[in-house]
Amino acid sequence: MNPVRIEFIRQKMSEMRREDGLDDVNPTRPLDGLDVLDVGCGGGLLCETLARLGGRTLGIDASSSNIAIASLHASADPGLSSPQKTKGSLTYEHTSVEDLLAQRGSKSFDVVCSMEVIEHVDNPATFLTNCATLVKPGGHLFLSTIARTPLSYALTIFAAEQVLRLVTPGTHTHSKYINPDELTDFFLRLDSDAPAQDAVPKQSAAPRPWISRLYGGVPSRTEAEIRGIIYLPWKGEWMLVPRGAPGASIWAEACNYMFWVRRPFK
Ligand SMILES: C[S@@+](CC[C@H](N)C(=O)[O-])C[C@H]1O[C@@H](n2cnc3c(N)ncnc32)[C@H](O)[C@@H]1O
Repeated sequence: MNPVRIEFIRQKMSEMRREDGLDDVNPTRPLDGLDVLDVGCGGGLLCETLARLGGRTLGIDASSSNIAIASLHASADPGLSSPQKTKGSLTYEHTSVEDLLAQRGSKSFDVVCSMEVIEHVDNPATFLTNCATLVKPGGHLFLSTIARTPLSYALTIFAAEQVLRLVTPGTHTHSKYINPDELTDFFLRLDSDAPAQDAVPKQSAAPRPWISRLYGGVPSRTEAEIRGIIYLPWKGEWMLVPRGAPGASIWAEACNYMFWVRRPFK
């Protein structure tokens, strides 16, 4: 699944950096010069690619054994860990997003990613708020997760866990899955100016949500985007469903999907 996540991040960052007036975005290094965080990095597969795409990447995980595995794997490529201002680099830290926020403060990263984590946490709204608070103004939040539908139960729990045993039984809880419109709704209500714990509350500021409005039920592609990812068994690989594919919200976003949202500049 990693290649399709990367394809989406690469496409979206290249598109948005061009939108911001950077005409010479290198398509192979769209994260050049950016501070990038991967929350719940697991074994670090995504982090390594984020660093190779130019990001000064920090991978964090609440599990110390996952950080040990990720660090060991990254050590096979010494170029990844050399901290340089102008090139991508990779460091890992055993910490939770809650503790990182307390330690670094809000608005610390240009790009925050969290892949396949939110459907495992006990309080997704708090987790999401913490991830979002770490994003700088004008920065980007990328998530991948699973929609709560009969199809996702059939594929990710019945087939993958109970029949084929590709995933340890009990890994997923269907009621914790989150639908794309629930994420959209969250960011329609999340006030970008809401004071973080470390800030002095402003008087009478008008709320500025991350997503300002919907157009025919979907956000503008400069504010947020949902893209389904589907497994093609005959090819043995995952595919990022093309933008605007007919009926995508019904068939392509009913199981695994990517979600991107941008924090307003001010
Ligand atoms: C299903 S794994 C996903 C790993 C990786 N992102 C991937 O897609 O392969 C979820 C990971 O999130 C981590 N995690 C859960 N809650 C966390 C939190 N609040 N802060 C940091 N990591 C967390 C877990 O330790 C676990 O390694």
